[in-house]
Amino acid sequence: MEMNCEDSPSWWKNGVLYHMYLRSFADGNGDGFGDLKGAINRIDYISELGVNGVWLSPTSPSPNNDWGYDVSDYLGVHPDYGTLSDLEEFIDRCNRLGIEVILDLVPNHTSSDHAWFIEALADPHSPFRQYYVFSRGKPDGSPPNNWLDATGGSAWTLDPSSGEYYLHNFLPSQPDLNWWNEEVHKEFEGILRFWFDRKVAGFRIDVAHGVFKDELLRDDPPAPEISKEFSHFGLVETYSKNREDVHPLYRSWRKIADSYDPSRVLVGETWVNDISRLASFYGNDDELNLAFNFMFVFTEFNARAFSEIVGNTLNALPKGASAAWTGSNHDISRFPTRWADGDYDKIRMALAILLTLPGTVFLYYGDEIGMRDVDVPVELQRDPMTKLIPAARFQRDRARTPMPWQEGPGRGFCDPNTTPWLPFGDDDGLDVESQRRDPNSTLNLTKLLIELRRQVKESLLDYQLVEATDSIWRYRCGSLEVLANFGDEIYALETERSERVVSSRQLEGVVIRGDSCIEVGPKEVIVLKR
Ligand code: NOJ
Repeated sequence: MEMNCEDSPSWWKNGVLYHMYLRSFADGNGDGFGDLKGAINRIDYISELGVNGVWLSPTSPSPNNDWGYDVSDYLGVHPDYGTLSDLEEFIDRCNRLGIEVILDLVPNHTSSDHAWFIEALADPHSPFRQYYVFSRGKPDGSPPNNWLDATGGSAWTLDPSSGEYYLHNFLPSQPDLNWWNEEVHKEFEGILRFWFDRKVAGFRIDVAHGVFKDELLRDDPPAPEISKEFSHFGLVETYSKNREDVHPLYRSWRKIADSYDPSRVLVGETWVNDISRLASFYGNDDELNLAFNFMFVFTEFNARAFSEIVGNTLNALPKGASAAWTGSNHDISRFPTRWADGDYDKIRMALAILLTLPGTVFLYYGDEIGMRDVDVPVELQRDPMTKLIPAARFQRDRARTPMPWQEGPGRGFCDPNTTPWLPFGDDDGLDVESQRRDPNSTLNLTKLLIELRRQVKESLLDYQLVEATDSIWRYRCGSLEVLANFGDEIYALETERSERVVSSRQLEGVVIRGDSCIEVGPKEVIVLKR
């Protein structure tokens, strides 16, 4: 089926995007790292899943101090992954199967290896100095303010040759860009256009809430209540990130995206802990198209918590805006571990819930097979941000391990004699091939739910809560009705006759008594299509 953006103005609305962490998806050249050739070899699998789009983790050249989130050339492709023409081929092959591709854009910072920063350090009078945030320290020589980077250390590093500090909200090798400089805006407009011209359907914008900082560099205040505030090592990032000044930037990017066609999509990585702030990133349908909801990601796995966060989110978003739902990504733990503690009934419940919510669903590679976190021994860990830094709050490698395509050495990810860049999880028969063979597998459930979602895609509006108790969450959305039983008792669901009934537990054989009474077992979700 030929399909492109013009044919599908809202391909992402109520659609499903597959978040492909390229380095761990499929190795096509035998070096133990996933790459574009490997991904191209697996395109049929993506198509079989039925997803509408793919989000590729950063593909740009990078010294990999933060595995690609430290970009040294925004217009290139990292040689580990292949070439620009490999990326173009990947996009083209996806498009021909009706799948759009979005890239990861990192505007908050560059790598310290980027030519701009090299120039900025070499010559304080170079125009590139103004691309970054340099500042003199306090009179006693200490850093300009109390901002802390992602490791819990000062967010400022001294440039000894000039005596000025430069700002880095993440690692010292990730200097923050100065968004008060119009030249930086122009550079990024060029970067957006470069990729849009190459049929990229949009961008996931890294640290979307944080690119603007307080121009006066005021101190961040102490966090009043650590657990509630998304505290950053005891501080609230009031001035170091989270500035309202970011909105005009997204309005200008949206104009660029829309000038290509309205199907382009901008998705923000918006780590905020307040739903109205989350909603603000959508603007008046003139800023980001989607904003990730981390309050949902960290929801407890129970009926009331889910129903509350979903209801509150949908109430807060501007009319017509699409929510962005996800359970896992490369920075946090996978939902099969975090929400479900490895229990497949719960994993399948979570998939059934995610895939029946109104808005856009992001599945992280492996979610579809219920892939869990892998306990990576310290000597095999590869993430500098969490490996080398005792203050790091979590270990990220656990959610970045290679995809298990089949049983045995190499797991179909790489050659059996190659050591993958991160270890595999247990060879537990839950790989892709094994699940393809099992008609009742999690993989087949995911495919079925995605297929169902595609059938009702346009109707998925008007979420209505029917019931939320300690154990039951029941909602209607378009032509779907969903009942999630988080409790230990069987629930007798009286309902009208439905065209289709899908259970998260068994793909066949739902117990229906009489015409209309469905038994929903413990840890089961029933989806009805009217
Ligand atoms: C968020 C990315 O998802 C994460 O992996 C990265 O370390 C930081 N932003 C900095 O770019």
